[in-house]
Amino acid sequence: MGERLLRYMDDIEDRLIAFAGANNLQIVRQIGFGIHGRVFMIIARHSASVVKVFEEEDPYKRERDVYLRLQEKGVEQIVGCHVPDLLSFSDDLRVVHISLVSRPFCLDFAAAYLDALPIGFPPMESDWEAEKLKEFGTEDWLKASLVLDRLKSFGIIQTDVSPTNISV
Ligand SMILES: Nc1ncnc2c1ncn2[C@@H]1O[C@H](COP(=O)(O)OP(=O)(O)O)[C@@H](O)[C@H]1O
Ligand SMILES: [Mg+2]
Repeated sequence: MGERLLRYMDDIEDRLIAFAGANNLQIVRQIGFGIHGRVFMIIARHSASVVKVFEEEDPYKRERDVYLRLQEKGVEQIVGCHVPDLLSFSDDLRVVHISLVSRPFCLDFAAAYLDALPIGFPPMESDWEAEKLKEFGTEDWLKASLVLDRLKSFGIIQTDVSPTNISV
């Protein structure tokens, strides 16, 4: 897409509409709003799926690259948690199109890194694990830790660990 056109597509909704138009998708409704962008349920070829439109380039690339890694490894679920399939993506529009999954699920890789954390990434607070235990509850935290270990075995380091992203 030409740079001139992109300059007019800074807005998330403009990019969503452009992606939907180009791929014959019908926008149903917004299902998530976070720091990295907005998440929409859409209908494509009579079935529901999900489009996530990113505000910024870096989180977009991280999420795209994690889904590509998961695809390369053939991962459909992690310790019983469904992982969305990457259906398509657009670098120009900063959009990933993924399958709709039900709970338990593991998703949102906008703050996940491949193979190593970037140099200078802040170290974990000493009470991180205690905080997670409180957030998830003992049983769910045990399961979530297994999910994190399994992700790591694929070289995926998830730094955004929350019950909304890892819903066990
Ligand atoms: N593929 C999906 N299937 C089902 N629900 C999803 C999917 N992707 C996102 N969601 C829902 O939308 C919420 C926000 O998506 P997420 O990727 O976590 O965005 P954010 O970066 O804004 O947190 C998730 O917590 C989940 O409830
Ligand atoms: Mg999230």
